[in-house]
Amino acid sequence: MSTATGAPTTAVPDRPESFSQRLRAATWSDHRAAEDHGFTRALMDGTLSRAGYAGMVAQHYFAYVALEETGALLADDPVAGGFHRPELERIPALVRDLEHLLGADWRERISPTPATRTYAARIAQMADHPEGYVAHHYTRYMGDVSGGQFIRRVAAGAYGLTDEAGVAFYVFDGLGSLPRFRAGYRERLDSLGLDEAAEARLVAETRLAYQLNTEVFADLGRMYVSIAA
Ligand code: HEM
Repeated sequence: MSTATGAPTTAVPDRPESFSQRLRAATWSDHRAAEDHGFTRALMDGTLSRAGYAGMVAQHYFAYVALEETGALLADDPVAGGFHRPELERIPALVRDLEHLLGADWRERISPTPATRTYAARIAQMADHPEGYVAHHYTRYMGDVSGGQFIRRVAAGAYGLTDEAGVAFYVFDGLGSLPRFRAGYRERLDSLGLDEAAEARLVAETRLAYQLNTEVFADLGRMYVSIAA
């Protein structure tokens, strides 16, 4: 494209060139809904109670058990296996955080909410749908190494928590530079070489993953913030 003077202009492509860009663009409104939820807002502005924060960590535990058990089943899968990184595993950090937040008997004190049960069951079903698994992997881990780093700072300040106990979930020391990790993750998405149908399935599952996360926030909101939606 050029202007009347013949000078070249930068055209905004209708369809972003890389799959990682298309995925982000197609799901960003769902990200907004998760980010703008009443529970997340209370978390980010530091008004959420410590019990509410602990409640969220407990729900993460059930989701990540599903995510990491299913990920282990797909470790050698040609599509999903490339995303498998031991340094990403969150269960040991979640256990440390829950021990600190709820005490040694934390296992007896937590249970999944109805939305978390639905979310974990959906993740487990992805053992037979590797692209769908990638969607869930992307939604959680890319979120944890992005916006999760803001949550880490806010929660550490609001509840007096440390990287060792309380916000260990957000600490990814084994990954090195997080911007570099995010760039590498996008390259991996781009090199999947999915056909249009598989790409559409991955996008649709990512949108569902955001919605399922938002429903977990709705449960947490009802329990801790008196916010239903
Ligand atoms: C608590 C409020 C949240 C804030 C403030 C936040 C903030 C952000 C920011 C600033 C980025 C962009 C980072 C970049 O450009 O590289 C980002 C990316 C991302 N976030 Fe969030 N986020 C929040 C909640 C969530 C939730 C609840 C999820 C999923 C359940 C999520 C999933 C993601 C994903 C997957 C990306 C990567 C998008 C991409 O570049 O492809 N975020 N977030």
